[in-house]
Amino acid sequence: MIQLSNVSKYYDNEAVLKDISFFVDKGDLIYITGPSGAGKTTLLKLIYRAERPDEGSIHVAGWDVGELKQSTIPYLRRNIGVVFQDFKLLFNRNVFDNVALALRIHGLHPDEIKETVNEVLKDIGLRHKAHEFPQHLSGGEQQRVVIARAMVSKPTVLLADEPTGNLDPDTAQIIIKLFKEINARGTTVVIATHHSDLFDNTGRRVIHLKGGELIRESIG
Ligand SMILES: Nc1ncnc2c1ncn2[C@@H]1O[C@H](COP(=O)(O)OP(=O)(O)OP(=O)(O)O)[C@@H](O)[C@H]1O
Ligand SMILES: [Mg+2]
Repeated sequence: MIQLSNVSKYYDNEAVLKDISFFVDKGDLIYITGPSGAGKTTLLKLIYRAERPDEGSIHVAGWDVGELKQSTIPYLRRNIGVVFQDFKLLFNRNVFDNVALALRIHGLHPDEIKETVNEVLKDIGLRHKAHEFPQHLSGGEQQRVVIARAMVSKPTVLLADEPTGNLDPDTAQIIIKLFKEINARGTTVVIATHHSDLFDNTGRRVIHLKGGELIRESIG
């Protein structure tokens, strides 16, 4: 589903990713870890085509991501849900509208939008908060809405960057459980985190980056 082959990325002539190769099978859930500055976020950005590799290639669901024409990028992104720290909720829209946004952009019929959004809100346990505004939700609830927004277009791939960043351990476990459920329904999930407690004892693949290099792979 995701294949990186000898990928390098430079910022200001400094390599932030060096000769990275790995694959993620369809339906897998894997973790990418490493200290701050290791290149985790950059790696996810390359998969999402927010950045392009300087060397090597990235294939996602059959697309050669680095070589995509500008006009094709939206088709790639329809297949990729993202939970990134800088993709915040809209604070002047309620929970329902935040989640519905992508479907409205895709031009779905309002009845279909209503049904799909309510279904996803039920999945994340926030059906009763549909008409609340984000600032009236706790941090963990807001993060669940961010995940709902990423899930609503039923992406084949879900990318999450430090999805449990500021959450207490219990709420973090709820979020991780949500990702496992999404994964169990067939979505390929990639989670970047430096919190090893998220993947310890999960039996999942963990890719370790350090200084832009893939230093090892382990099983959590
Ligand atoms: N747009 C940019 N321009 C220049 N340098 C950048 C840019 N984005 C990232 N970098 C550099 O690339 C390196 C890797 O950054 P990245 O954000 O991928 O790390 P990370 O593993 O996600 O770290 P963290 O755990 O702190 O989020 C860092 O040294 C960072 O300063
Ligand atoms: Mg990061």
